[in-house]
Amino acid sequence: MKLSSGTAAKAIETNALSKHYNGLKAVDAISLSIDEGTIFGLLGPNGAGKTTLISMLVTMRKPTSGSAKVNGFDITRQADSVRKSIGIVFQDPSLDDELTAMENLELHAALYNVPRQERKERIEELVKLVGLEKHLKMQVKKFSGGMKRRLEIARGLVHHPKILFLDEPTIGLDPQTRAGIWDYIKKLNESEGITIILTTHYMDEADKVCQKAAIIDSGKIIAMGSPEELKNGLGGDIISIKCDAHEGCREKLAGLSWVKAVLKHDGILNVRVEKGEEKIPKLLALMEKNGVNVESVSLRKPSLDDVFLHFTGRTIREDEAKPADAMRLRRKFMRR
Ligand SMILES: Nc1ncnc2c1ncn2[C@@H]1O[C@H](COP(=O)(O)OP(=O)(O)O)[C@@H](O)[C@H]1O
Ligand SMILES: [Mg+2]
Repeated sequence: MKLSSGTAAKAIETNALSKHYNGLKAVDAISLSIDEGTIFGLLGPNGAGKTTLISMLVTMRKPTSGSAKVNGFDITRQADSVRKSIGIVFQDPSLDDELTAMENLELHAALYNVPRQERKERIEELVKLVGLEKHLKMQVKKFSGGMKRRLEIARGLVHHPKILFLDEPTIGLDPQTRAGIWDYIKKLNESEGITIILTTHYMDEADKVCQKAAIIDSGKIIAMGSPEELKNGLGGDIISIKCDAHEGCREKLAGLSWVKAVLKHDGILNVRVEKGEEKIPKLLALMEKNGVNVESVSLRKPSLDDVFLHFTGRTIREDEAKPADAMRLRRKFMRR
């Protein structure tokens, strides 16, 4: 199955791209295409294969099978051209702490052969974009986590890449800083027209930032679309009932003609129905009749969490990714 997103020029095209580790299908025959200029999210739980997928796209890891083009360049046969045309920000800060922000940016510009006369102007433009113009001369070790991430994003853009890859850009940051990073990501997509591919295990991040998202689980894409499409695709409302309902009760509810789906998770029954507000009294009456103790009830529109739950029967666990991995990958990339 080819998952396509329209007829615009393609930033990424993969064809049955796979990566196996000793029989483990970390990325399992993924075929997708991403339009230029999109903020595209790869959304999935820890271990889903997100980092492995983008590691192949940025040429840090070789596919086991399948192929991919990035900015029209083949990731195995034209790896150099791929690398020059992309920017990357890994999960963990990989700046030189002893250097100033300016020095970090200049180092990167030199590494990527940005002409000397262009460097200053480009750097000034980018630090403004991420709101760090007042901190250029500060040593990076005095930066907060959020400032470091913004500086890394700016650094990833110094050489005018057409695509920026962000692997879990807000992991480990506080909610306010995360929201700030989301704004910067959207701003630079608008002002630079750049394609942004980000991985995340945060549903809210995908929902707020991405124009399109692919939900990944066990190395496979299980759903793709805009966050709105994904959520609307489920249809109806979700009534969440915190209760001690047993499996028999869940089955009874699932058998009702007006119930679209029932999932039980962590002591919560999620019942998907049309016109939820009218169904709450019916449901509660039914629970009482079956001797179920109801602690609380809430009504909401489906979220991306519900989409994931719908396709996998599980919720995305809030496992933190492993920062050590990210550091190792960046070193490997820089050595090339
Ligand atoms: N170098 C490696 N060797 C063996 N297994 C790996 C390696 N890198 C990743 N994996 C495994 O591949 C799967 C996908 O990992 P990863 O791409 O890091 O997922 P995500 O980024 O979605 O959390 C996991 O089961 C992980 O343990
Ligand atoms: Mg990862």
